[in-house]
Amino acid sequence: MIVLGIESSCDECAAGIVEDGTKIRSNVVATQIPFHAAYNGVVPEIASRKHTEWIDTVVRESLAEAGITPDTVDAVAAAAQPGLLGSLVVGLTFAKAFAWARNLPFIAVDHMLAHLYAAQLSGEKPDYPFLGLLVSGGHTIICRADSFDSVTVLGTTIDDAVGESFDKVSKFYGFGYPGGKFIDDLAKTGDPAAFRFPLPNLYKGAHRYDVSYSGLKTAVVNQKEQFRLKNESTPADLAASFQKTAIDILLRALFRAVEDTGLSTVVIGGGVAANSYLRDCLKNHPDIRSIMPPPILCGDNGAMVAGIAYHYLIRGDRSPLTVRASARVSNFRRQLLK
Ligand code: KG4
Ligand code: ZN
Repeated sequence: MIVLGIESSCDECAAGIVEDGTKIRSNVVATQIPFHAAYNGVVPEIASRKHTEWIDTVVRESLAEAGITPDTVDAVAAAAQPGLLGSLVVGLTFAKAFAWARNLPFIAVDHMLAHLYAAQLSGEKPDYPFLGLLVSGGHTIICRADSFDSVTVLGTTIDDAVGESFDKVSKFYGFGYPGGKFIDDLAKTGDPAAFRFPLPNLYKGAHRYDVSYSGLKTAVVNQKEQFRLKNESTPADLAASFQKTAIDILLRALFRAVEDTGLSTVVIGGGVAANSYLRDCLKNHPDIRSIMPPPILCGDNGAMVAGIAYHYLIRGDRSPLTVRASARVSNFRRQLLK
């Protein structure tokens, strides 16, 4: 079954063609980063306008790259939530129109569930249940997955998302936009022990698997002298020390969940899942089987949308064309977006 997946929740205008849920035939991602870089953040109005300009070309390219015509497509899917409303509406409406015009099944998917599914596109199939770590610019979620569409949130951030903290620190020091990749690269030549930034004091009661980034951000931006251990320090040292603390915060909560649930398979997804320190820590952990998408599938893309949609389709699910976009994170419990 050949599925066209469309993703426009933020600043990537993307479409992918996936066969039978795992075989990527094409994955076209047109990034808007240069248009937002001047503002050091995504400008919603610019994002939705660019999606409107590009979506037709991006979908055509995804078909051409896959070597197929629209007639070969068996179903259409699009991310409907969460994300920027004006951006989501563009991809979702395009997908609905494509499906309606060709009388094809249509599936509206949750962007975060699609991120969690992305690892399966690389061919490695985790057995359910497993623990998921969803880390992006807008979300930080530790969850238990019982199936591709049944996910229980165990922990989340109580303030900033982890990717947001990379972006804010990078913006403050002028490292580059978006910050994650720049900090990751800079950190490679830095000393992660140059600064010892404080870890949040959560991990109790209802917050057992929650994380927090506002304290770290403040320390790195306003109080870095207080936490400096070396006399001489470079921007690379700062990047490496921040990155280590930001990822250790995640891992502390994740490892707690591993211990408490007895689930030792961890699947990661979202833009921050491309972080090299995070990947090394998980890969080298003796008691954890980690399943990670290749870096190219960590960020927003259409293949993950097409991939997860296949599983709804073979179950016989269909979304009505009246389904609406929503900026909010779903409760994940719903069987299908309606
Ligand atoms: O999933 P994504 O592409 O978009 C959202 O849904 O938010 O994630 C983007 C986030 C940005 O905050 C970006 O700085 C971060 O992922 N990111 C990284 C890395 N690559 C991207 N963070 C840390 N290390 C990276 N290598
Ligand atoms: Zn995303």
